[in-house]
Amino acid sequence: MSENHVAAELVASAEKPPLSSRIGRDPPFVFGQRFLTEDADVFNHNAWDNVDWDERQIEQFQESILKQKESPVSDFNKTEYNSKPKKYWDLFYKNNRENFFKDRKWLQIEFPSIFECTKKESGRKTILEIGCGAGNTMYPILSKNENPNLRVFGCDYSDIAVDLVRGNENFERLHDSGNCYSSVWDLANEEGNIPEDLEDNGVDIAVMVFVFSALSPKQWEQAISNLKKVMKPGGLILFRDYGRYDLAQIRFKKNRLLDENFYVRGDGTRVYFFTEEELREIFCTRGGFIEEKIGSDKRLLVNRKKQLKMYRCWLQAVFKVPEI
Ligand SMILES: C[S@@+](CC[C@H](N)C(=O)[O-])C[C@H]1O[C@@H](n2cnc3c(N)ncnc32)[C@H](O)[C@@H]1O
Repeated sequence: MSENHVAAELVASAEKPPLSSRIGRDPPFVFGQRFLTEDADVFNHNAWDNVDWDERQIEQFQESILKQKESPVSDFNKTEYNSKPKKYWDLFYKNNRENFFKDRKWLQIEFPSIFECTKKESGRKTILEIGCGAGNTMYPILSKNENPNLRVFGCDYSDIAVDLVRGNENFERLHDSGNCYSSVWDLANEEGNIPEDLEDNGVDIAVMVFVFSALSPKQWEQAISNLKKVMKPGGLILFRDYGRYDLAQIRFKKNRLLDENFYVRGDGTRVYFFTEEELREIFCTRGGFIEEKIGSDKRLLVNRKKQLKMYRCWLQAVFKVPEI
């Protein structure tokens, strides 16, 4: 997919309410392609990279959030969405099946460590994709694999998502060869269970793409504790998720706010918007992982016809598990 296609798609997706229908479809960020140096140029292209926000924009973002606070989700609905989050992801996959599959070539650029494991001589390696959905990340990894000793586990707490993964035409062959596993697993399960077929501290690389944002802040601690159980000393956690003040957050209207920076989409799925500092606090200060990298990708998307400016923000991070 060319840069222009990505940009055009982003603009298109930003135009279409509700954003909820775009979950899992958000195209990746391709870093540093086009920089805006003169404000007057803004409507000359569809997208600009690394556009920081000025004080006026931040004020506007905060005003939108203040408005959201005037009409939060009712207590009754809060209980519904927070007590049965899995139900809404099941519905999401029932309705969308795997047709939100997108090209994941960016994985190779953004997370090269994944592909080190797929090299022929890499030896026994285990990758766990958490919140794997329909397998959008795990199958592209497996399609590149030349390592007979690579195991890729795809886990999700939606049974329907796991059924989609297992229903993939390649699943049986890859499972029989010991390269591919998939099971239902709740990252934040309170029993501290780890995924089926996986041993304690068996994972070299955990991939978490737009999954941590689906948890309530109250579940973060349990999720980190479960992560520690699955990760090998020296292992890596590769993270990508929504950043604070992303367009998807700002566009929420009435009756969507569950808690500070935590929302429910039109389809009942939940989403949190992180800052870099929060990730550092959750994963490093409290979680004990080592920060290898935490970065924001801020993009300005432009609808030239309507002269609209739309700001997107994603966070990307790599955390390392301390060696014993
Ligand atoms: C936004 S989707 C992202 C899917 C996939 N990672 C991708 O990027 O296309 C979030 C996924 O996380 C899953 N999920 C949400 N909460 C989870 C939890 N507590 N444990 C495991 N999976 C969870 C959902 O079922 C859903 O498949």
